[in-house]
Amino acid sequence: MADEVARQGDEEREAVISARDLVVGFSGEPILDGLDIDVWRGEILGVVGGSGTGKSVLLRTIIGLNNRSAGSIKIFGKDYDDMSNQERQEIGRRWGVLFQQGALFSSLTVLQNVGVPLREHMRLPEELVDELARLKIEMAGLPADACGKYPAELSGGMIKRVALARALVLDPDIVFLDEPTAGLDPIGAAEFDQLILKLRATLGLTVFMVTHDLDSLVTITDRIAVLGNRRVLVDGTFAELRSFDHPWVRAYFNGPRAEHFTFG
Ligand SMILES: Nc1ncnc2c1ncn2[C@@H]1O[C@H](COP(=O)(O)OP(=O)(O)O)[C@@H](O)[C@H]1O
Ligand SMILES: [Mg+2]
Repeated sequence: MADEVARQGDEEREAVISARDLVVGFSGEPILDGLDIDVWRGEILGVVGGSGTGKSVLLRTIIGLNNRSAGSIKIFGKDYDDMSNQERQEIGRRWGVLFQQGALFSSLTVLQNVGVPLREHMRLPEELVDELARLKIEMAGLPADACGKYPAELSGGMIKRVALARALVLDPDIVFLDEPTAGLDPIGAAEFDQLILKLRATLGLTVFMVTHDLDSLVTITDRIAVLGNRRVLVDGTFAELRSFDHPWVRAYFNGPRAEHFTFG
């Protein structure tokens, strides 16, 4: 595969996703306009920005759920527009998505929900689907007896874990997480952060995570991209972004909620 390799210092970085000059709109003014972003293999990239800046739209555009009116997206080094339908389907198996609204099917059990991508993308015997789903449910830190439960019987934290198990069920290279810790209490959120770190370490995942959660940003991201003015305003580490001169970035990274994070 003609993966793109960029160099920064001595470090070799491979872009698993590269978007250039993206323009995305629905009607009227575009939501994203001239946006560039790279996601490097193995990193946990945090994507932040004010409400309505287009974080979810960006995520959905990268995975092909929203149309773009201009710009290009390369995935694993290959331009999406140059792919055959079969290649696009294959790409769809190499990522998993945890949508902002959890998006579990309320009429399906946990086990059935987690098996959905397997049923969609693979032809496997039912017992194997259940077996693979069980493994991921366990990996997501859920007890075995969660398998037979319905979403309505689960806590918010458990729903996120089920959605994560589903996102992992095809053994993806990349997971997209849209506000995975929103609505969790601080302990649940911290546990979820640790789970993401553990999964990255054990599965070698690349993580694209939209979040508002400062604790998550500090604890688990390698790099943060800030959306504003319809594009990526700036990217860098949490410490680097603190000194970036933009009103929203300043307010967010130096506001009262960021105060207790100290960096040498
Ligand atoms: N399918 C859609 N049709 C029309 N407008 C949309 C659609 N999806 C998102 N938008 C608009 O795009 C803007 C950015 O939305 P979104 O990406 O969800 O914001 P956020 O950064 O909070 O995730 C919002 O104004 C939203 O109303
Ligand atoms: Mg959103």
